[in-house]
Amino acid sequence: MIPDQSIVPPLRVGLAAQRTPPPNVLVIFGATGDLTARKLVPALFDLFCESKLPAPFCIVGLARRAKSDAAFRAELRASAQRFARAKPDDDSARWDHFAPIVCYHQADFDSADGYTRLGARLRELDATRGTQGNRLFYLATAPEYYALIAERLGAAQLAPPGGAWERLIVEKPFGSDLASARALNRQILAVFDEAQIYRIDHYLGKETVQNIFAFRFANTILEPLWNRNYVDHVQITAAESIGVEERGGYYDGAGALRDMVQSHLLQLVALTAMEPPVSFDATAVHDEKVKVLRALCPLCERDVDDIVVRGQYAAYRAEPRVAPDSTTETFVALRLAIDNWRWAGVPFYLRTGKCLPKRATEIQIHFKPVPHPLFARVVGNGITPNVIALRIQPDEGIYWEFAAKRPGQTIQLSDVRMDFCYADSFGAAPGEAYETLLLDAMRGDATLFNRNDEVEVAWSLVTPILERWAQSPPPEFPNYAAGTWGPDAANLLLAREGRAWRAP
Ligand code: BG6
Repeated sequence: MIPDQSIVPPLRVGLAAQRTPPPNVLVIFGATGDLTARKLVPALFDLFCESKLPAPFCIVGLARRAKSDAAFRAELRASAQRFARAKPDDDSARWDHFAPIVCYHQADFDSADGYTRLGARLRELDATRGTQGNRLFYLATAPEYYALIAERLGAAQLAPPGGAWERLIVEKPFGSDLASARALNRQILAVFDEAQIYRIDHYLGKETVQNIFAFRFANTILEPLWNRNYVDHVQITAAESIGVEERGGYYDGAGALRDMVQSHLLQLVALTAMEPPVSFDATAVHDEKVKVLRALCPLCERDVDDIVVRGQYAAYRAEPRVAPDSTTETFVALRLAIDNWRWAGVPFYLRTGKCLPKRATEIQIHFKPVPHPLFARVVGNGITPNVIALRIQPDEGIYWEFAAKRPGQTIQLSDVRMDFCYADSFGAAPGEAYETLLLDAMRGDATLFNRNDEVEVAWSLVTPILERWAQSPPPEFPNYAAGTWGPDAANLLLAREGRAWRAP
């Protein structure tokens, strides 16, 4: 494959700058799947309505079932109506402008003929629509097809004409353990150059996740506090109120550790704990994130037994396409330690689960208590140490909680909050992660994607847990009721260290 020569690090020229990507064709493999319907097409339609897509631009949906362009467009219209901000039914004219840029291509993922026909179709689009030979291939299929499709794309020699670019977006999950992630990297890198590969973790596309950079590195007052001298511990919760819904077939083979911890939660750890990058180009940001992940203390078998808790919600085994005796975890809580100068001795507690009391993702920085007992004498032991919480979703924002004197002639303290709320400050809730990520890939900005070593180092932390769990019998599953904060063992994990989870 032709290495990508058009990449400039756009974040370096300013986070605020709006840049329209160059003309290109987006080919979505797995175009009749859930991801395309729920996330990709709604994101593309919203981008189109906000005039953020390039012109010319085309979308080729590729899947195995035979289907006409018209039938495919009708399905996408229904998805956009359900999941996009802009509703086609409210403004049919806008949909009528969007629909012709979408077409359908039937092909089997392993058939050479399908790729030859795809090549012809792409050349035709370049000639008739002016897409200039730039191609973005999006792997939205089941993960077992990723390596095959990459290999077939290479064999079909679809390389664009001189000067044009070709890129590959790979959806999560990238592998199912360290060995499979390494193998997948090897297989894809045999065809594409690292600079052409965009490994998705959609959490990185969330505004509030990117705002961790701004909060930490655009404000002077935080840096002196953001370390072991002032921080007692960090809690990261990613809670979902829903169960596995119709995704039981995938989820039962994955579980919460692979599905959420290896990817989204470790990314949040990396952004919270990393050193300032020397610039905002992708390499500098990836380098700093990888350094944090490498500094995470590896977990031995005993650690897994002691500081990793797994849970399964009641009724999980009755979900569609879930084994009736499944031992898959739908909840994980664990303690991590980062072995570097900034964070030595500061525990990072992570928890995630399905069927918890609410949908909420939050990073809480818990500061140390005041060192002297001045107020304890008058108000007892009730002074809560300061907390800064980054609310990733919903109610996106940041708050700082501190003690204040209650009005009156006696000294009494209360915890009060200074609250920043995206919707109030900016007049709108943050946009969808996939909109940002699709545009970034078209522009050639890999900052918010994962590099090969980053994915592997995340798997190297998680794989010993999977191996230990495979050897040892799970706890009595199910072990938590839907609508609760997981099994008791998750509370004990903190309680035995004199701490408690704080609800997001
Ligand atoms: C996905 C997981 O990556 O993230 C899902 O596969 C999970 O199981 C989802 O529900 C959560 O994403 P969000 O953006 O809703 O927090």
